[in-house]
Amino acid sequence: MNTVELHAEKLTATLGAEVTGADFTQPISPELSKAVHHALLEHRVLFFRDQDLTPEQHKAIGRCFGELHIHPVIPSRKEEGHPEIVVLESGPKLPFVADRWHSDVSFERRPPLGSVLRGVVIPDQGGDTMWANMTAAYDALSDSMQRLLSDLEAENDGGVFTAVADANQRKELAKDQTATHPVIRTHPETGRKGIYVNSTFTTKIVGMKPDESKAILSFLYTHIASPEFHCRFRWRKNSMVIWDNRCTQHRVVSDDIRAPRRVERVTIIGDEPH
Ligand SMILES: [Fe+2]
Repeated sequence: MNTVELHAEKLTATLGAEVTGADFTQPISPELSKAVHHALLEHRVLFFRDQDLTPEQHKAIGRCFGELHIHPVIPSRKEEGHPEIVVLESGPKLPFVADRWHSDVSFERRPPLGSVLRGVVIPDQGGDTMWANMTAAYDALSDSMQRLLSDLEAENDGGVFTAVADANQRKELAKDQTATHPVIRTHPETGRKGIYVNSTFTTKIVGMKPDESKAILSFLYTHIASPEFHCRFRWRKNSMVIWDNRCTQHRVVSDDIRAPRRVERVTIIGDEPH
């Protein structure tokens, strides 16, 4: 059997690695798929450069990990036969989306395992993406805080999309728009615990008074915004990122609103958080 050697150079002490030794414009061998999977569990976010992918090649990377998700609202390349590829665009007349910390689609019952995002139109500067390591953020809490959070559940709601959805999209969104997930989830593959509430989709902690819920959530959002849990990626055209959505959050840095930017995402369906 051929083995695949990937070279991973860490971006920061806690999160992310720039990976060389893989060319996704070629068919993905089982060995490469296994090596990428292994690297993802170790580094949580993988960065690749110079991957000039067709839509099929982009989707093939996602399919190494599981079934692909179709987003109920975000625009996609469905007219070209690729409803699994969502298009995230910004520019002078289109504000940045996703500029707050979040885990993708956490409002669905089976939120994504991960996503594969590729740079299509990249500004000369600005529009970097940041990721935060939710395992490290959990580990940094005191034992007492970990115990307090361990039995809690939170509601997640995709209602933020209703404002930009048409009638049909609203109907689709409504099918799987709210979900209750543990505040601390255990990664199904590594067994590590991580924080699983986010400031975009989480609405409240179940069974708490509004002020109590707000205090705990706002503490956690401030906590995960600490830079020691982060890495930050400077995009280039044809850069490609794979991240584990079960143990990270991410956000775009909306620092240059004039420059056109387009990235495209394939999202992999995950399992129910526990
Ligand atoms: Fe996102």
